Amino acid sequence: LLFTMTPVKGIRTVVSLRDGRAYIIPLAEGHQKVQGLGVIDVDALGPIEPGKVVELCGEPFVVLQSGGLTGALSSVERRAQIITLKDIGPIVARLGVAPDSRVVEIGGGSGYLTIALAHFVGENGKVVTYDREPKAIELVRRNLHRAGYESRVELVEKDPKDITGGADIDALVADVPDPWELLKFAESSLKPGAWAVFYTPSMNQVESVVRALRKRGWHGTYTLETLERQMVVGEHGVRPSFEMLGHTGYLTFSRWLGNEAAERASSN
Ligand SMILES: C[S@@+](CC[C@H](N)C(=O)[O-])C[C@H]1O[C@@H](n2cnc3c(N)ncnc32)[C@H](O)[C@@H]1O
Repeated sequence: LLFTMTPVKGIRTVVSLRDGRAYIIPLAEGHQKVQGLGVIDVDALGPIEPGKVVELCGEPFVVLQSGGLTGALSSVERRAQIITLKDIGPIVARLGVAPDSRVVEIGGGSGYLTIALAHFVGENGKVVTYDREPKAIELVRRNLHRAGYESRVELVEKDPKDITGGADIDALVADVPDPWELLKFAESSLKPGAWAVFYTPSMNQVESVVRALRKRGWHGTYTLETLERQMVVGEHGVRPSFEMLGHTGYLTFSRWLGNEAAERASSN
């Protein structure tokens, strides 16, 4: 009853008709472990027929060829705090992550953001993810494999603090406790004009990273927080949900314009 690690080509997803949750089915035969669902007999699903309703664990599910980004994310095995869709939206939009982009990520964690970045860079883009913890690298690898995005991501088990990049990166994301320690690496990695984002849960971290960015001559620095609230459509009216996804982390965006611009900015 093993979850096979053979390469996947295309992904099958089942979506619960009870709660809408999506689960990725490994493209393998026999009994397979499905993250979040348990062990199921994959053969019993039959050939992929998108839209077909099947019974699994006594409940109805609809089969889809691919569950898209939300389908891929719903099967993530989590360890560390993740960056949720609330923050992924502004990150990819403000960084301009698009097909063919080359993105560096520092702090892979569970690989939740890694999957989203891999999704947006497309088949010909590249994500290079650093994490200094071997266990995190293994977890990101497993989650990427399940989502079918393994080939888009290079995983590096390292703290990149003392590494020099090749000035060929379009965007950089850091989700680590001390991002100000990584600015030298970020500056050598980014193409002049590229944006970076530093995701930090506390205001003290925001202050430290912004002061460091100013000192080192980065441009256009700003910090924002996004708050997410759903609407409840009831029998007698529509109102906002009493619960909301409030604070997760602050997003500090900044732009690297190259060494010459940085020298001028920091001498002013
Ligand atoms: C909060 S988790 C990242 C979660 C991730 N963004 C996600 O959505 O799943 C932070 C990760 O950063 C790693 N980390 C912390 N400092 C680091 C450093 N200087 N270099 C590389 N990895 C680091 C930790 O090992 C941990 O796995």
